[in-house]
Amino acid sequence: MSAHERFDLSGRTALITGGSRGIGRGIAIGLAQHGADVAIVYRSAEREANEVVEAITSLGRRAWAERYDLAETDGLADLAARTWDATGGGHVLINNAGLGYLEHFNRITPETWNRTMAVNVDAVFRLSQAMAERMIAGGIQGRIINLSSVNGLVAEAGLAHYNASKGAVEMLSQSLAIELGPHGITVNTICPGIIETEIGGEFDIDVEAFCQYFKAHVPLGQRFGEVEDCVGAAVLLASRAGAYITGQRIVIDGGVMCEQVPRIQFMPRYRNTLTAGD
Ligand SMILES: NC(=O)c1ccc[n+]([C@@H]2O[C@H](COP(=O)([O-])OP(=O)(O)OC[C@H]3O[C@@H](n4cnc5c(N)ncnc54)[C@H](O)[C@@H]3O)[C@@H](O)[C@H]2O)c1
Repeated sequence: MSAHERFDLSGRTALITGGSRGIGRGIAIGLAQHGADVAIVYRSAEREANEVVEAITSLGRRAWAERYDLAETDGLADLAARTWDATGGGHVLINNAGLGYLEHFNRITPETWNRTMAVNVDAVFRLSQAMAERMIAGGIQGRIINLSSVNGLVAEAGLAHYNASKGAVEMLSQSLAIELGPHGITVNTICPGIIETEIGGEFDIDVEAFCQYFKAHVPLGQRFGEVEDCVGAAVLLASRAGAYITGQRIVIDGGVMCEQVPRIQFMPRYRNTLTAGD
């Protein structure tokens, strides 16, 4: 098999939650560009969901969209069954949908806690459970890719529920990797840093000061990530090229997590030894 063929997703079907916008949209179209048929689940943005469907069908791939609130956890097994039947099976499940609230720990209500856990954790588990059962029954060596976060690895203030939910996704993914490995199904996470999407749009924060501070600490380019920065990892994990990768995480944060403290800011300015004369 050629290197190119190892990344070819022709004949594979992917289900992506939260596929109408942001990272999910980028991955949905990216997988289709590599040959996959794609079903997306979206919460409310019908026009955007239809645009994604059009983008995928214009690539000559099949596409489906279903409106569903993933917080309705009791219906998730049925959602998986419907999607499976509609698409004729599924090889790749991408649990991308997620939400977060920025609030001090003492302001977290049962409602924001429960909704965060329902969408970010329960839905990931229930869809994985239902899809994996079908993959095993169908002899499909499928792929489960969960959008976690660097917040699943290191905490941030104001996001106790979000941090806890993404930490749970990390452990859930490793647990499933062990149990699904014998069936040839891989389970991995993608852990973005800050990617420019709408997810933090309603956060009560001094946006300008925070963005300036944060970007200054991104080793790679001093910029936020873009949706496109996340697509290649999803293609790798969904493809034959990723067949022996499981229980792993791919951190996409421009190098932020490499650093304990920004010591470099307090050192003499970098000078090239070949061109700076010393
Ligand atoms: N953007 C970032 O900086 C960043 C960083 C780390 C992790 N992530 C994770 O990446 C994933 C995608 O985030 P994004 O930045 O594209 O966010 P986004 O807000 O742009 O998109 C989130 C998607 O999830 C869907 N969604 C949310 N709640 C839902 C529900 N109840 N039912 C159905 N769909 C629902 C939305 O409709 C939307 O399509 C999330 O899991 C998020 O936690 C994002």
